[in-house]
Amino acid sequence: MNQMSMTAGKAVDWSAVRGDFPLLERQVNGRPLLYFDSANTGQKPRSVIETVDDFYRRHNANVSRAVHTLGSEATEAYEGARRKLARFVNVHPDELVLCSGTTFAINLAAYSWALPRLQPGDVILLTQMEHHANIVPWQLVAQRTGATIEVAGITPDGALDLDALYAAMTPEVKLLGVTHVSNVLGTVNPVREICREARRRGIATLIDGSQALPHRKVDIAAIGCDFYAFTGHKMCGPTGTGALWARKEHLAAMPPFLGGGEMIREVRFDGTVFNDPPHKFEAGTPNIAGHIGLGAAVDYLDALGMSQVEAREMELLAHLNEELARIDGVRIFGNAEEKAAVVSFLVEGAHAHDLATLLDLEGVAVRSGHHCAHPLMHFYGVAATCRASLAFYNTHDEVERFAAALVKVRGLLA
Ligand SMILES: Cc1ncc(COP(=O)(O)O)c(C=O)c1O
Repeated sequence: MNQMSMTAGKAVDWSAVRGDFPLLERQVNGRPLLYFDSANTGQKPRSVIETVDDFYRRHNANVSRAVHTLGSEATEAYEGARRKLARFVNVHPDELVLCSGTTFAINLAAYSWALPRLQPGDVILLTQMEHHANIVPWQLVAQRTGATIEVAGITPDGALDLDALYAAMTPEVKLLGVTHVSNVLGTVNPVREICREARRRGIATLIDGSQALPHRKVDIAAIGCDFYAFTGHKMCGPTGTGALWARKEHLAAMPPFLGGGEMIREVRFDGTVFNDPPHKFEAGTPNIAGHIGLGAAVDYLDALGMSQVEAREMELLAHLNEELARIDGVRIFGNAEEKAAVVSFLVEGAHAHDLATLLDLEGVAVRSGHHCAHPLMHFYGVAATCRASLAFYNTHDEVERFAAALVKVRGLLA
């Protein structure tokens, strides 16, 4: 297969791109590593690794505290990363609370926005395909407020049942939490349309963008949600990074989630004046190096172009689907029309963990298990699946190697 891809007039040399990822040179169990687990965490390009390394070697200091040169450099680099990230998703930097990732971001919205305002009789509406990170924080809030949780269903091919979702948007619903892209099925949900419908009914929306940002252009302003949560480590950035975007009026009204240094303007024993958002929500020393590294990841993805990234991954997905269709006994979970390069599957007669363990012996990294989505596993009546999740740095050769490894492993388990 051709390693050059041409989209929107710009050619990308994908073999050179792959060379930017040092870890992909590794051998695992005596075989070249075949990394199909990017939905779990993404690999890091050299520029991100070097940015983090350079920060610790040459600029390391705390942010927003010291007036010395290193302190200013660290603050400028950290705030510069926030600005890059904000531009990347088309929002204002003051509306972007940097945090450790999606889990923290959703908890922040749950505790600071929902907890003080929900009451008995209110409903939090979720969907069957949510990650536990977009379920459990709402359960905790529901337990403490007396609100209840309702769930909008999906179709057997793994798309949201939009009619059912809109019918479930009753006046009692105060918040809708929905994932932009399913981490198990790959389904890309029409979040813009969903947010428009929710807004018409006065329902606030939180979109879990963990699996969207790494794979497609995301314009949060155009989506029209109230909250958008994402994680940096799946989009070429370091672990422990991410953000919650929220509308300015929400951030202004929300009490802080955590108290401590940095989030205050003045502290007295008889009362504290909080800092302005987003700093009001960033207590303590943040993950400075990580977020500066995430800024480098944004530079990297920007230089590639998200439309190129998406087109490349769609080519790889089509190829993977072709290869899997040739193998007997493979059941795929999630065939929605709009789908990212995530394929959950089972092979007749084989347990997901056995498949993943034997694939690992072939150098293939896939995830097996419930993928932090128990309700989705219950919907399909399975305990676990195997999941091959691709990124733009994968290759067509790898897709073929993966299919060959799966045929071999299937033979061993039959
Ligand atoms: C859809 C989705 N939501 C939330 C999360 C949680 O992200 P994190 O563990 O980075 O907070 C993940 C990570 O797997 C995910 O795929």
